[in-house]
Amino acid sequence: MKITFLGHACLQIELQDSTLIIDPFISGNPKNNTIQLSDLKADYILITHAHQDHTLDVEALANQTGATLISNYEIITHYGAKGIQGHPMNHGGSYEFDFGELKYVNAIHSSSFADGSYGGQPGGFILSAEGKSIYIAGDTALTYDMKLFGSAFDLSLAILPVGDNFTMGYVDALKASQFLNCNRVLGYHFDTFGYIEIDHEAAVKYFLDHGSSLELLEIGESLTL
Ligand code: NI
Ligand code: MN
Repeated sequence: MKITFLGHACLQIELQDSTLIIDPFISGNPKNNTIQLSDLKADYILITHAHQDHTLDVEALANQTGATLISNYEIITHYGAKGIQGHPMNHGGSYEFDFGELKYVNAIHSSSFADGSYGGQPGGFILSAEGKSIYIAGDTALTYDMKLFGSAFDLSLAILPVGDNFTMGYVDALKASQFLNCNRVLGYHFDTFGYIEIDHEAAVKYFLDHGSSLELLEIGESLTL
């Protein structure tokens, strides 16, 4: 699978026959001058929680691509009322899609829409496809639940927020990688706004010094598993 960082907490995951976009936030990202929303293709749009920096471009992208949304029940209901189709999940549930299996897992965060309406409880996804499993944490604090994810799945990659302030920072992300038993981490949710700017060199070194690896991609850069 090929994973492309589209800025902030937005990812594109290309599988053999399907393209997934996670948490589309392209048009409002002040750091993005690389990715055009209108160029993106998607079969599925995965949404971890309702905050605007994860949902701003959901409607536009869904209308442009005809993609199916996958998120918690409340978020799917919200977009269903606007005529956008989706697949509702809730915490602890797994489902076998045509591209692979997703488990929706809990996150320690909040999840309101921009207008204050209820966006259910926030989550993350564990994607198992093409013989590999990856964890997409969404916005979350460090939580002991990550030990459960690490014992249930042999993770090839953990995609973790590292920007601090609204989520865990990179020090807690290292601890998360240990709980997850996964020493390859892709960092996201950093630098987009002043509150979450990080020292890249210090973050990468901190992981290296503790026998782990943190990758921080430029917008538009990819890694392949
Ligand atoms: Ni959030
Ligand atoms: Mn966020």
